[in-house]
Amino acid sequence: MSRSVLFVCLGNICRSPLAEGAFRHHAAMAGLGDLQIDSAGTGHWHIGKLPDPRSQAIAEQNGVDITAQRARQVSQDDFTRFSHIFAMDMDNLADLQAMAPIGASAQLALLLDLIPGREGESVPDPYYGGQDGFADVWSDVSEATALLAKRF
Ligand code: 4NP
Repeated sequence: MSRSVLFVCLGNICRSPLAEGAFRHHAAMAGLGDLQIDSAGTGHWHIGKLPDPRSQAIAEQNGVDITAQRARQVSQDDFTRFSHIFAMDMDNLADLQAMAPIGASAQLALLLDLIPGREGESVPDPYYGGQDGFADVWSDVSEATALLAKRF
């Protein structure tokens, strides 16, 4: 299986679209080709929607356009289509572990496991907060995905 990365949160409109956008950016800067990159949500409520306007804004402030993304739900196929699946928080990880089919080959981990000293931490859900929370999410996902791009 070629290298491929799926980022997962609950709604696929706030955190994982930012992780996808940040990793696309860092992978391009690192000259990584031949990578499949996507994001998805464990929930179904926002299927087909654009990223939250607050995520669009913080991405744009950092030179990253995420407006081509549309929310989708994690599917059983994802566990064999992707070599790596990174969950934003412990609930997302537990949901992924519970739905993983027999024969799943993807490696599951928390996104912040990529940052030395922050293993086991979650990227907090910013949905019910203000724009500050989205800046914090950007900081977390950008740092983690920059390290991922170096590792790949
Ligand atoms: P996300 O944020 O999981 O980072 O996309 C959320 C988006 C929507 C909801 C919760 C979290 N919601 O309850 O609709």
